[in-house]
Amino acid sequence: MKVAVVGATGLVGTVMLKVLEERNFPLTELIPVASEKSVGKEITFKGKKFPIVSMDTAIGMRPDIALFSAGGNTSLEHAPRFKEAGTTVIDNSSAWRMDPAIKLIVPEVNAHELSIDNKIIANPNCSTIQMVVVLKPLHDKYKIKRVVVSTYQSVTGTGVKAVEQLMNERKGIDGPKAYPYEIDLNVLPHIDVFMENGYTKEEMKMVKETNKIMSDDSIKVTATTVRIPVMGGHSESVNIEFENDFDLAEVRSILEKSPGIIVVDDVANLKYPMPKDAHEKDEVFVGRIRRDESAPKALNLWIVADNLRKGAATNAVQIAEYLIRKELV
Ligand SMILES: NC(=O)c1ccc[n+]([C@@H]2O[C@H](COP(=O)([O-])OP(=O)(O)OC[C@H]3O[C@@H](n4cnc5c(N)ncnc54)[C@H](OP(=O)(O)O)[C@@H]3O)[C@@H](O)[C@H]2O)c1
Repeated sequence: MKVAVVGATGLVGTVMLKVLEERNFPLTELIPVASEKSVGKEITFKGKKFPIVSMDTAIGMRPDIALFSAGGNTSLEHAPRFKEAGTTVIDNSSAWRMDPAIKLIVPEVNAHELSIDNKIIANPNCSTIQMVVVLKPLHDKYKIKRVVVSTYQSVTGTGVKAVEQLMNERKGIDGPKAYPYEIDLNVLPHIDVFMENGYTKEEMKMVKETNKIMSDDSIKVTATTVRIPVMGGHSESVNIEFENDFDLAEVRSILEKSPGIIVVDDVANLKYPMPKDAHEKDEVFVGRIRRDESAPKALNLWIVADNLRKGAATNAVQIAEYLIRKELV
């Protein structure tokens, strides 16, 4: 199994390499790819050094799988070229997600949709992934009517430049800016660009991607996405209104038994999910599970996950593992 990691020097790419290594992914050859400025530099994988190669070199090596995290334009331009060379591309950018011909996959929810014909597969937006992992088992049991979500998103979701901005601001250094305002000691109700309807693109991604992954356009979703000066993971306050009534103990038990979820919900002992605890973990953490006392059949909960792991690298690697297990690649 020859695997190309496109964007190998970036925040997601670096975690991708770590996740491949940790999970002992069955690769026989690693092909790290980045922009022209990084070609010739080296990355370390399993204690060995690998030179970064250009896109053209990587395509010429005809990898079996290419894990892309190098921005939307790079994906739009180069993913079809890998596909032509017989490679299955798993793409982390937003470039292909809403294309009706492309599958948008969270393995715990809809891996069964994948077939051998899917040569470009989209990894959803980080904040959507962690939410649908929790929504899916609850939707199966109680049928979700409406979701209201507010996010508290880590600067690692913006890439290397944003982490530098936060760290520079902490040290009083004037450096390059990833955000239009200071992020340290601040909160920005603004992720990705604003759209004509007054929502941001990130908010609309959460709406549309949720419907696509859950294969159910009847689920109403509204989102407010917010950047906070935090590393380690994204947090979400989620209010869910169901068609059918639920039992709180049963909700907890369903979530405890669902794949990829860890319930941390013991307020008597001050236990609830936090980005510091989710950092470098592959699971989605859920807590603060309680009835919405202002509405019948409605639930509040708090969801946290490492956006670079389950929100990006881990989800992509899990898709690749599924393809291998089912002999779809
Ligand atoms: N951060 C997250 O939580 C997250 C979550 C889900 C999805 N994503 C998506 O993943 C992608 C990367 O995000 P990131 O946070 O890792 O960004 P990043 O830290 O800025 O890294 C970008 C990577 O892309 C490479 N790259 C840029 N232009 C390229 C080109 N023309 N050809 C080949 N490689 C190129 C860069 O290489 P150089 O080092 O050579 O410039 C670098 O390896 C984005 O599409 C983002 O939307 C990010």
